[in-house]
Amino acid sequence: MYFIRIFFLFLLCCNANAQVPLIANIPGRTNINLNGRWQYIIDPYETGFYDYRYVERNQKDKDAYWNSDVPQNKTDKLEHGYSTKNTLYVPGDWNSQDRVFLYYEGTVWYKRSFDFKESMNGKKVFVHFGAVNYKADVYLNGIKLGMHKGGFTPFNFEIPDSILKPENNWLVVKVDNKRMKDEIPTLNTDWWNYGGITRDVNLVIVPNDFIEDYNIQLQKGAFTREEKIIEGWVKLSAPIKGEIIVEIPELNIRNQIAANGDSVSFTLSSKYLKLWSTKSPSLYKVIISTPADKVEEKIGFRNIEVNGDQVLLNGKRVFFRGICIHEEMPEGMRRAYSYKDAVYLLGQVKELNANMVRLAHYPHSENMTRVADSLGLMVWSEIPVYWTIDFGNDAVLAKAQTQLTEMITRDRNRASIVIWSVGNETPPGDERLAFMSTLAKNARILDNTRLIAAALENFGLNGEQVVKDKLGDYTYIIAVNQYIGWYGGLPDNCRKVKWAPNAKPMFFSETGAEAVGGFYGDSATRWTEDFQEWYYKEQIAMMKRMPANFLGVSPWILNDFRSPRRNNPETQEGWNNKGLYDQKGNKKKAFYVLKAYYDEMEKKYEK
Ligand code: GCU
Repeated sequence: MYFIRIFFLFLLCCNANAQVPLIANIPGRTNINLNGRWQYIIDPYETGFYDYRYVERNQKDKDAYWNSDVPQNKTDKLEHGYSTKNTLYVPGDWNSQDRVFLYYEGTVWYKRSFDFKESMNGKKVFVHFGAVNYKADVYLNGIKLGMHKGGFTPFNFEIPDSILKPENNWLVVKVDNKRMKDEIPTLNTDWWNYGGITRDVNLVIVPNDFIEDYNIQLQKGAFTREEKIIEGWVKLSAPIKGEIIVEIPELNIRNQIAANGDSVSFTLSSKYLKLWSTKSPSLYKVIISTPADKVEEKIGFRNIEVNGDQVLLNGKRVFFRGICIHEEMPEGMRRAYSYKDAVYLLGQVKELNANMVRLAHYPHSENMTRVADSLGLMVWSEIPVYWTIDFGNDAVLAKAQTQLTEMITRDRNRASIVIWSVGNETPPGDERLAFMSTLAKNARILDNTRLIAAALENFGLNGEQVVKDKLGDYTYIIAVNQYIGWYGGLPDNCRKVKWAPNAKPMFFSETGAEAVGGFYGDSATRWTEDFQEWYYKEQIAMMKRMPANFLGVSPWILNDFRSPRRNNPETQEGWNNKGLYDQKGNKKKAFYVLKAYYDEMEKKYEK
């Protein structure tokens, strides 16, 4: 039965993934950037997609919003149009750009024109999106290029050169961010449903036979040897007879591999390789070339593994001084997307003296993982299989698998990523266990070099706490969200709790309390910074009593963030205020309590 389920899932993925394979390392290729002001049409009734009988319009239907909005003559009747009166900035969510979009959930049509003067002999061109939340139907000059679902992972479609024009190419994207029961995530989340083309858009020009994907990593266990072994593979878009060259100039490595097909694997070695670590995040320029193509990027080399009830980074026990982050800039109440945003958010993380970030609850932008690489921050990256997904639906499992594959494909060369998480706070049950364990197994098949996790839940308020969730049998660590003192009892309940040891490393993947920035009082007054400070003091005292397998914590959360679920008119008003930084970027009192704990743990584990 299990095999049949996996095979069916594989077939579903192929079908759901009707696009061409994801092209790796977009920043390292020839791009024409299409960021900027796009014109839009708000279309809550999807008039541009369905006719008045709610039948999908055919491709040539002049009332379809993917077709020209220019009347052919004065008698022409057209009831749609793109205008400079209505523009949105891309990348960026629509909710924060105009009050009309604040709570909007539905379809918005985006359109921009571009000229294309490149000579295309021997080349191909793709349109690549860093992310679109949630469903994207993409058209060029009235021809549909493809459809993608998933709000936080990249995708690309090939543009047949038969439809490209030298001038005034019409790129139209139908974006629909309606929440649906059978999607990933599902109807309810505790974050704002920011819709739009939320990350970069590029035209990517590649040779006909191009380097499609590759992986290059430190061999498992290689950190112990003086001669470090690096291994990897290169996947081409088509078979070639020729040489593939892998170079790491700073290490004087130039390896020529004879290719006779569409992929090669290789091993390299060096006595001079400096390992990537949180204290010394060494990155090396890696250049991969074929007779027709060449890509390069900075890559770090390290090992991460579980050994008994410990996690080892390059063979040394590591303690996670973590923090959770939503991909959001509180100032401006908007999705974070840029390199500057990533530097800002991860700069806050470094101020906290954290060495790890849990990028909740969905893959963040490539800027975040590349900046984490350069700052030496370990990353927990997660797909938004969040709360009560439609676990009995194989089509939903295929969607989760597609997002898992896209997340791992985009970031498999990021040294900072040490954990792939397949979900958060999913409710125990047989269908859920089958669904989640399938994802955990597939994550391991896609990448057996990193830890696989899922954030579980624990609600106990006193006595011994034993984590019994069977999903923990399929993950490398036992990661638990607990809110003792906020969602149950008061902070001093922590004194009544004793956590049972277990055979795997144990991690508090969330814990936190709300505080309105600047609201002070006595520590028993909920919503004050003083209460949140008390919460952290009691939680940390409990953490100091954890058994030896305690791996660390990533408290919820770095910054206050937006959520339509948080509607106390005095203390929330659409904000979840569990941030250690408030809505204006000011540190709350609890920030200093956690930082003091992290300074202490740094001395204890990284002296
Ligand atoms: C949950 C959940 C978060 C949520 C948090 C909270 O654990 O994982 O997404 O925001 O608790 O209630 O604040």
